[in-house]
Amino acid sequence: MYTEKTKNKFDFLKGKDPVVMGVESSCDETAVAILKGRQVLSNVVASQIDIHRKYGGVVPEVASRSHTDVIISCVDKALSDAGLSLENIDCVGVTYGAGLIGALLVGVSAAKAICMAKDIPLVKVNHIEGHICANYINTELKPPFISLVASGGHTSIYKVSGYNEYEVLGATRDDAIGEAFDKVARLLGLPYPGGPQVDRLAKEGKPTIKFYKHDKGVNSDLSLSYSGLKTAVVNYIHNANQRGEDINAADVCASFTSEAVDLLVDTTIEAAKRSGLKTIVLAGGVAANSYLRAKLQTEGEKRGFTIKYPPIELCTDNAAMIAMRAYYSAVENVNYADMSLNARPSL
Ligand code: KG4
Ligand code: ZN
Repeated sequence: MYTEKTKNKFDFLKGKDPVVMGVESSCDETAVAILKGRQVLSNVVASQIDIHRKYGGVVPEVASRSHTDVIISCVDKALSDAGLSLENIDCVGVTYGAGLIGALLVGVSAAKAICMAKDIPLVKVNHIEGHICANYINTELKPPFISLVASGGHTSIYKVSGYNEYEVLGATRDDAIGEAFDKVARLLGLPYPGGPQVDRLAKEGKPTIKFYKHDKGVNSDLSLSYSGLKTAVVNYIHNANQRGEDINAADVCASFTSEAVDLLVDTTIEAAKRSGLKTIVLAGGVAANSYLRAKLQTEGEKRGFTIKYPPIELCTDNAAMIAMRAYYSAVENVNYADMSLNARPSL
């Protein structure tokens, strides 16, 4: 498919700090970024939040169409913000899963087109690994470490042994934590996306309501679960509505947040203890949560762990993290994709 230059995959980049373009379109952000090593040259995010807000959540077909509308202008803006042209890009990394099929396909198609036209290699990027790699941007962080990925679609604890070695140590058995945050927000009539709204309101409330007791503490298999807690909050609100009682939304948010986060923090620390590793990094949209950041930091440091998390804008979906993940694939010559690359919604 490729010509001479790329037939040995990333070999032509040896000894060079490649300029990598990242493309992300797995859910409701169309994003393109350019990195040189760990340095961000540009980072463009076109959010669809305003489009989906009136529906109270992401409408997949609307998301795909919106990605199609803006992807080219995002590529153009990322290049002009970086002061570069496509000739300066050494390779392109694209999220090929997990995510919404129609949404993913827009980014995958755009990335393939650029690689084909410019004869540069394509890197397939797992979205969750991308979230973890947000922690490398503008930092000195090196593997090994433990990473907690908490987002709208995932809640998993990883052991990251090398730049291309990821092992799942524990994960949710049902819903993702971000999904639970969004559900609670919807029940309280807060606007989409709910996580940041629950975060804001929780600061005004007290964790006085016991929705769902985790009497057993950390599960021995390091698994987590959010569907029971979610249902308990649904029942609490419905029962109060039926009795005509007022709900203290701030207390609901504070109580839900501490129940959702406390066990997650304990489970992450247990995973870190078992691994013998000393660094824990946070990743994913829910890593923006102020209670989670503070709790993991205090509990972790108390036990001698170093805690790291990305700046808020790199926690939620962006393409800088995708370019960062692709960079370590290119320099270690893995995750090369040819033009048959397809989207993998449930990767
Ligand atoms: O990583 P992300 O942008 O997309 C996925 O890969 O899923 O995560 C989005 C999720 C949403 O559920 C959103 O409500 C949640 O992250 N989120 C938060 C906060 N900011 C975003 N949840 C709690 N507190 C926040 N401050
Ligand atoms: Zn994400």
